Amino acid sequence: MRHALLLTLMLTVPPAYTLADDAPTTTETNNLLGLPPVPIPANNPQTPAKIALGDKLFHDKRFSVDGTVSCANCHDEKKTFTDALPVSVGHNGLTGTRNAPTVLNAAFNPSQFWDGREADLEGQAKQPLVNPVEHGLSDHKQVLEIIRTDPDYLATFQNVFDVSAKNLTIDHVAQAIASFERTLVAGNSPFDRYYFNSQKDALTAAQVRGFELFTGQGRCVSCHTIEQDHALFSDGRFHNIGVGINQIQQDVPRLAQAFLEVKNKGGDVDVLVLTDKKSSELGRFAVTDDLSQIGAFKTPTLRNVELTAPYMHDGSLLTLKEVMVHYNNGGVDKAGEKVNDFLSGGIRPLNLTDPQLDDLVDFMKALTSSKLSSKPAQTAN
Ligand code: HEC
Ligand code: HEC
Repeated sequence: MRHALLLTLMLTVPPAYTLADDAPTTTETNNLLGLPPVPIPANNPQTPAKIALGDKLFHDKRFSVDGTVSCANCHDEKKTFTDALPVSVGHNGLTGTRNAPTVLNAAFNPSQFWDGREADLEGQAKQPLVNPVEHGLSDHKQVLEIIRTDPDYLATFQNVFDVSAKNLTIDHVAQAIASFERTLVAGNSPFDRYYFNSQKDALTAAQVRGFELFTGQGRCVSCHTIEQDHALFSDGRFHNIGVGINQIQQDVPRLAQAFLEVKNKGGDVDVLVLTDKKSSELGRFAVTDDLSQIGAFKTPTLRNVELTAPYMHDGSLLTLKEVMVHYNNGGVDKAGEKVNDFLSGGIRPLNLTDPQLDDLVDFMKALTSSKLSSKPAQTAN
């Protein structure tokens, strides 16, 4: 469609303009505009065969207790690598406690999961397979059994990792999945063309106003960061912004204590936070044991956020407008009650008008990568 448009432009405008119109279209093929280089760990280099293997593993439902769950159930390409549910559903209809973040651009996260309990994609990939409310396998040996009895898989693992059936480990599986995930990246949104390519007409007037609020009165950019030559819209840090916390506030000392006791006896944090709603709300505390991080969650990227509703670690806010209202109210719960002793200092009432909140929502929609854009190209207003 874009090409058709360009062709029309080339036929109808004088040559001088053809050049200018050509520039953004050239970068249209650059899916990474606005992103830093994808970090690739030295011990897990990308190869086409490994990426293809990871793709297959990511979509294979056999790695689950009832044969119905693959990673793609909850990270579905058709739903921008989410499940579009408030909280995820695993095997046998069991529900977890948290909203599935998109895997798109997860390669750039300095840590994985809402509470950052895994350092990298390799570590992350091993968890859902044995989580009782996700794939539900009792241990990783079950994954390896399936691979060892499948000649296709065995030949591919041998080819990719030069590993025999006997020496195959879950780390090989995790490495292949992580390599595949490192290909799931998307930049090149209207914002990127506006900000990094000086294409001033890439944003609508409302989006430009929204961007000004984002960096100004809204103070969003202090956590959803923009660098000079790229923007991940996340500082990679953990903040309590007043989501979900009101459900445990009165109970925090007892809950925190009880959680630590279980954890110190060898309790698995991944299992605890995804199977127990109240433990889930402890946030980053569950990883660091640091009381000041009660209810703190990782700043998510805002790229493609238009396509990944519902929002927040618990999926409790259904629309971007609801998110803006939450911030405008200073992070207090819907009843307007101040029940959160751990609220980040960065969250205060913003005093924005309703049309300004709409401008912010419009700006969020400027962060959708063109490759994913489900709507026709925007026209300026
Ligand atoms: C039953 C649904 C479900 C399945 C199956 C599932 N995930 Fe997830 N995924 C989630 C949820 C929910 C979270 C957030 C959990 C948390 O933060 O505690 C998540 C988090 C992630 C993250 C972290 C993203 C971020 O921004 O921090 C990655 C990466 C990921 N999953 C990849 C995978 C892979 C790879 C598999 C298969 C091995 C998989 N997931 C299987 C639901 C699922
Ligand atoms: C103090 C840091 C901080 C500030 C300031 C901040 N955010 Fe956030 N933002 C976060 C964190 C942390 C989360 C996830 C919180 C959770 O799930 O509990 C989040 C979540 C979001 C989400 C939901 C994304 C998703 O995938 O679920 C949107 C949208 C968002 N913020 C937009 C904004 C906008 C717009 C502003 C300015 C009005 C803003 N944020 C200001 C830290 C911040």
